[in-house]
Amino acid sequence: MRLKRTYKCGEITSKMVGQKVTVCGWVNSWRDLGGLLFIDLRDRYGKVQAVFSPEKADIYQIASKLRSEYVAAISGTVQRRPEKDINRELATGEIEIAAEDVELLNASKTPPFEIKEHIEVSEDLRLKYRYLDLRRTELQQSLILRHNLAQITREFFNREGFLEIETPMLTKSTPEGARDFLVPSRLKPGKFYALPQSPQTYKQILMVAGFDRYYQIVRCFRDEDLRKDRQPEFTQVDVEMSFVGEEEVLSVVEQYVKYLFKRALDIELQIPFRRITYRESMDRFGSDKADTRFGLELNDLTEAFRNTEFKVFRGVVEQNGYIGALAVPEAFDYSRKQLDELTQWVTSMEASGLAHLKFSGGNFEGGIAKFLGEGEKEHLNRRLALSSQALILIIADKKKAFAQTILGFLRNKLAADLRLIDPQAHHLHWTLDFPLLDYSEEEKKYVAMHHPFTSPKLEDLHLLESEPEKARARAYDLVYNGNELAGGSIRIHNRDLQERVFSALQLTREEAEMKFGFLMEAFEYGAPPHGGIAFGFDRLVMLLGQVQSLRDVIAFPKTARALGLMEQTPSDVSADQLRELGIRLID
Ligand code: AMO
Repeated sequence: MRLKRTYKCGEITSKMVGQKVTVCGWVNSWRDLGGLLFIDLRDRYGKVQAVFSPEKADIYQIASKLRSEYVAAISGTVQRRPEKDINRELATGEIEIAAEDVELLNASKTPPFEIKEHIEVSEDLRLKYRYLDLRRTELQQSLILRHNLAQITREFFNREGFLEIETPMLTKSTPEGARDFLVPSRLKPGKFYALPQSPQTYKQILMVAGFDRYYQIVRCFRDEDLRKDRQPEFTQVDVEMSFVGEEEVLSVVEQYVKYLFKRALDIELQIPFRRITYRESMDRFGSDKADTRFGLELNDLTEAFRNTEFKVFRGVVEQNGYIGALAVPEAFDYSRKQLDELTQWVTSMEASGLAHLKFSGGNFEGGIAKFLGEGEKEHLNRRLALSSQALILIIADKKKAFAQTILGFLRNKLAADLRLIDPQAHHLHWTLDFPLLDYSEEEKKYVAMHHPFTSPKLEDLHLLESEPEKARARAYDLVYNGNELAGGSIRIHNRDLQERVFSALQLTREEAEMKFGFLMEAFEYGAPPHGGIAFGFDRLVMLLGQVQSLRDVIAFPKTARALGLMEQTPSDVSADQLRELGIRLID
């Protein structure tokens, strides 16, 4: 390089008029306007315009060969643009560089898409040419925010006396319950490491070791079916503390989140955050991560239909099921077609159907209104506290949690479709008192709702053997605008209780020993009472940056099918590599 960079493109301001500068970057655009040649040069700090006059023939020659995404260094004097050419949209829009020298540093093939905001190309193409995609301001802003949030996180936890300690990536199955990514061992053929789904076991062992305040910004791996807000490898802000109960953990987390919002977004959050029990959250919002930015709460109509003549509902009531409704004034005008679409949408999630009726001028009409007796209508009127016109949508199912969940999804969808959500709102709350166990239809047994080291509530211990499904956990989730931002719990720290929970999970002593024996053993050498939490860091960046996709806050993300499109992963390996590992592929 002959020319040395003295300033970044985005740094040139009107205060520098008259100054000599050299900038380096990529050609964002070039225009030949009747002799004068304008080149916009871009780096990650911004864009600046350089103007080449044909009078300086040699450099004009070089500049006229520059094309989009060529890399160049340009030297010249900063000058004010003529008034008519000022671009107020651009930070450097009042000035330009009168070019005196130029060096072509590298050429570029024609990029497969233009480097600009809001491009309309397939995400697959963007991911294949991620290095070009990452030149766009949108993505650069996301990664800068990600960097800042990580630094603020470290600042907070360091200040509070937490130690950042790394834990292994080549490890053993951890207890989060997703599928593991396995790594074959060469030195012990036939044996496998698992990549950690989280550092859960290690951070608990660090508590036994006396590191009473631990945190780590750490990569986790889960081989699960990917949804919009999930990635196979993702990052957690992982925290664990000794000698604490729920109050101490919740309090540190509230201070962290408050600090983060203040430092990153200059938003002043009120702490402590609101607390909602799991039961209340399901009953009112149909979700354990309730979006409380809008009303539209669920109404339990099961009692109203106890003696109904309407067969479908009667069947559900008789099976001890649940009938719930949303009353939506804003959707009163929904057409037949819109209602059909909603019905299709809920049935695609395996709901058996969506009943509706409309309320207007004190009367019920349309949909299932004709099946309802006077008593039921009165009950409905009272229960739904109807005053104005409203569309009433009803889900009935023999499984209460399922019906409530569908209503919860419907509630979120309607709020989005009808624009009931204030985009400026920041709602944070805790969901508490989760059930300890969840019945898995697939495995035909109870599984841990959080993970098997989560302590039951002490007042529910007597239920563990008699009515395990009623036992509640000392677990907590932090919810932000309807998203699960973090989850954690107070842990079990003595062997007896751990064995009772394993037995409620129908995990035999041998299985438990094989999976978590090392942790159980550590617990026999003086485990302090402890608890912790983990934040989904990618999700945090996505939500704070108001970015649409998790992939847009990760430099090199995987697709929904867990593929790396740029580097082509997963990929074949050589026969030699397989042989060394003692692995033979089956068809
Ligand atoms: P949990 O499994 O709830 O808890 O995970 C904590 C947080 O991590 C985020 N998260 C994900 N983000 C992106 N992609 C994924 N596939 C993904 N899976 C989870 C979520 C979630 O709230 N060891 C426990 C924590 C503890 O008990 O301390 C754990 O991992 O935002």
